[in-house]
Amino acid sequence: MRILNFGSLNIDYVYAVDAFLRPGETKAAANLMINCGGKGLNQSIAAAKAGNSVWHAGLLGDAAGMLRDKLVENGVDVGLLMPTAQPAGHAIIQVDESGQNCILLYGGTNRMLTKELVDNAFDVFTAEEKSGLVLLQNETNLVPYIIEQAAARGLSVALNAAPMDASVKDYPLDKLTWLIVNEVEGGALAGTEDEDAILPALHEKYPHCGVLLTLGAHGARCMEANGRVTRCGSYRVRAVDTTAAGDTFTGYFLYGMLHGLSVPETLRLATTASALCVGRPGAADSVPEKAEVDAVRREERFGALLVSTEEA
Ligand code: RIB
Repeated sequence: MRILNFGSLNIDYVYAVDAFLRPGETKAAANLMINCGGKGLNQSIAAAKAGNSVWHAGLLGDAAGMLRDKLVENGVDVGLLMPTAQPAGHAIIQVDESGQNCILLYGGTNRMLTKELVDNAFDVFTAEEKSGLVLLQNETNLVPYIIEQAAARGLSVALNAAPMDASVKDYPLDKLTWLIVNEVEGGALAGTEDEDAILPALHEKYPHCGVLLTLGAHGARCMEANGRVTRCGSYRVRAVDTTAAGDTFTGYFLYGMLHGLSVPETLRLATTASALCVGRPGAADSVPEKAEVDAVRREERFGALLVSTEEA
């Protein structure tokens, strides 16, 4: 099944620091890297590298040709990416010595999508084939409109509710096929800080929607629409840069779900891809190839992974 990603695109300015800046502090960065990123772009590339057929729709800002080139290089269809002279989105990212990051976003063209652009992308995407999955993140504007339009056209929809803000609660989340959250986003939507209560609460609110909950070093959990829950552990790997680890997980998770893999198998695949991602610097460039992910799993290079399923 094809994926249509209305995805954000950012130029990432990545500063290596010993520790994150504190209020009022000025410090010199040890290094600067300028990378291709944006949750949307990273997820398109992860989904394509996993083996999905991906179309990326959006606005390509001024002097952001490197973002388009990166998508093309990774096999993503960019026919629905419209150039504009407006400033592109960018991210200021600090990466500390433990590989953790903090990210400041400037939305730029990611927040300038128009209903005309969205409608046109849907028309082109569904011209010959009516089925597909629409992928969204919360870095663009018009997310609720796109969900409504996708559902009206009979397309399935996956939303990664990152970055979380107060408006997400008002989105038509009951129309989603998959809601993808981490503990912060999941907790905010579910109204609880208890990790174990997040999935049941979200299932009650959105009973027709599957939920993928990623928990970093605590692994991931998936609750299917039928209420079955699968829990997956994580690998202990040395983190160089965690940027795009969640995006990698999303791209590989969707591959499994769209290609008939079981949920346990899918979580193993996505966890392995994500573990490889955190071992490398950068965003889009740190997403591993499927052949590498498969080899690591086959050889159990990161050790064993605990996966268990509880029926509803
Ligand atoms: O998920 C990682 C991404 O978040 C970065 O590439 C950055 O651009 C921000 O969008």
